[in-house]
Amino acid sequence: MQRYAFLLFFLASFSSVGFLACQHDPFMQPTDPNNPDPDPDPPPTTGFCDPDSVYFQNQILPILVSNCTESGCHNAQDRQDGIVLDSYQSMVSTVENATQNDLHENKLMRAILESDLDDRMPPSPKAALPLAQINLLKKWLAQGAQKNACDENFGGCNMDDAKFGTFIQPLMQAKCQGCHSGNAPQGGIKLTSYAEIKTVAMNGKLYSAVARTSNWMPKGGAKLDDCNLQKIQAWVSAGAPLN
Ligand code: HEC
Repeated sequence: MQRYAFLLFFLASFSSVGFLACQHDPFMQPTDPNNPDPDPDPPPTTGFCDPDSVYFQNQILPILVSNCTESGCHNAQDRQDGIVLDSYQSMVSTVENATQNDLHENKLMRAILESDLDDRMPPSPKAALPLAQINLLKKWLAQGAQKNACDENFGGCNMDDAKFGTFIQPLMQAKCQGCHSGNAPQGGIKLTSYAEIKTVAMNGKLYSAVARTSNWMPKGGAKLDDCNLQKIQAWVSAGAPLN
């Protein structure tokens, strides 16, 4: 009897370990003091990405992380002016009227659209946000400023999409260029033009920077998912073509 009890105990603990290891549990992700999980409470993903909708987690948060959370600015450590922009929660609790669809009342939009260069965000000498990103913010506000997220790989990881024009360039614009552009790019790395991106791809730094399990890029942002990592790797292995 005792033997059976022991066996049962053994089986039970073995299967529960197996069960835990297979789960996509956020607590199992490697944590890193340099890149703590920026968003402890991300919204659940709800199906495919409707091109007519704007999603906070997929489209708006990367703009904020890339343009506003670099060292000395609006990250959880530096909290410049008390503002933190590394998650929905921190944004709504530190920015006045951050979800209001009124471009004067909404302090985030006011700072972005400010014409006085001394007060505009991101501050000069950084460039103003690209118009496409400002329009995404406006559309998200007009659609109710929801804390929403969609599944970019709905229906499986589409490797046919691993091209410069359809994948690499939009990814760089959304998640990297806020820090890696202009006259003083972070880490001395520019990721704006095709030639710049190709150089960093071919010297191996592009993939290693996004794939490593601590201090990954985008700095301060969520780690890119496995599908995105595979697509970057495939594009780099193909010789970083302009396709
Ligand atoms: C919030 C600012 C920020 C964002 C966003 C960001 N980076 Fe960086 N990046 C840095 C800083 C700062 C460094 C300098 C090294 C460090 O501090 O880790 C750096 C360094 C790098 C380097 C140099 C070598 C290395 O491995 O560190 C590469 C390559 C790089 N980033 C790629 C990217 C890519 C690709 C993205 C977008 C997916 C991105 N970065 C997004 C701030 C940023």
